[in-house]
Amino acid sequence: MKATLFIAAVLAVSTAPALAALPGDGERMAATCAGCHGTRGASPGTHIPVIGGQSSDYVKKTMKGYKEGTRAGGVMANLSKGYSDQQIDQITEAVASWKWQNSQNARKKGKIKISASGTEVCAGCHGAKGQGTPIGPHISGQAAGYLKEALSEYRSGRRTAAEMGMVKEMTDQDFDKLVKFYSQQK
Ligand code: HEC
Ligand code: HEC
Repeated sequence: MKATLFIAAVLAVSTAPALAALPGDGERMAATCAGCHGTRGASPGTHIPVIGGQSSDYVKKTMKGYKEGTRAGGVMANLSKGYSDQQIDQITEAVASWKWQNSQNARKKGKIKISASGTEVCAGCHGAKGQGTPIGPHISGQAAGYLKEALSEYRSGRRTAAEMGMVKEMTDQDFDKLVKFYSQQK
């Protein structure tokens, strides 16, 4: 009897750390992102990106980029430094598991005319409508102000990604069209 109790106690103690690291931790930490990114990452802002349902590889790479300084990021740079790599993995898992919700600031009305060849080049990595692929993040239904800013940052070199080098040849007018096109895609 005593031995059984002892074994039960040992089992309870030895499984405790594993329980403490269950996915709930990621959800709890990711809940603090709501202040800026909205409930479950559905950002209500014009310049703060929707993150809920974004590809997990991309969220993880981005968070680590902010933390290590390879992606310029203002508030995100400071914030990401507060988490261990393991915590970033847990946060990422939670954020990526949420359902993508189009930005309230995505463009809703009026179809923009853009020649197929204008977005063909983007489709290879971001998907036909910009819903994301394993190579490129989800960009459709994203906050319009944020999309424009992201493109401008690749052009100015503030943000670097070899895949996005082509935007260096583009003008503000090209950006406006692309932003309207992608932000209105469902
Ligand atoms: C104080 C406001 C604030 C808080 C809190 C915040 N973010 Fe951010 N986040 C931003 C802003 C602003 C940007 C856009 C910065 C940029 O252009 O790089 C951003 C960008 C991001 C991006 C890049 C998205 C993309 O499409 O490239 C990710 C991923 C992200 N945040 C994740 C998080 C997570 C996860 C948390 C919670 C642990 C969080 N953020 C908390 C303000 C915030
Ligand atoms: C060769 C693949 C590739 C092509 C082609 C490409 N992209 Fe990207 N794009 C990426 C990758 C990878 C990223 C993430 C890079 C990073 O980590 O900053 C990205 C990032 C972006 C972002 C920022 C997303 C965010 O959440 O911050 C936007 C906006 C974007 N691309 C738009 C476009 C548009 C518009 C085109 C076509 C004119 C295009 N991309 C063509 C691969 C590509």
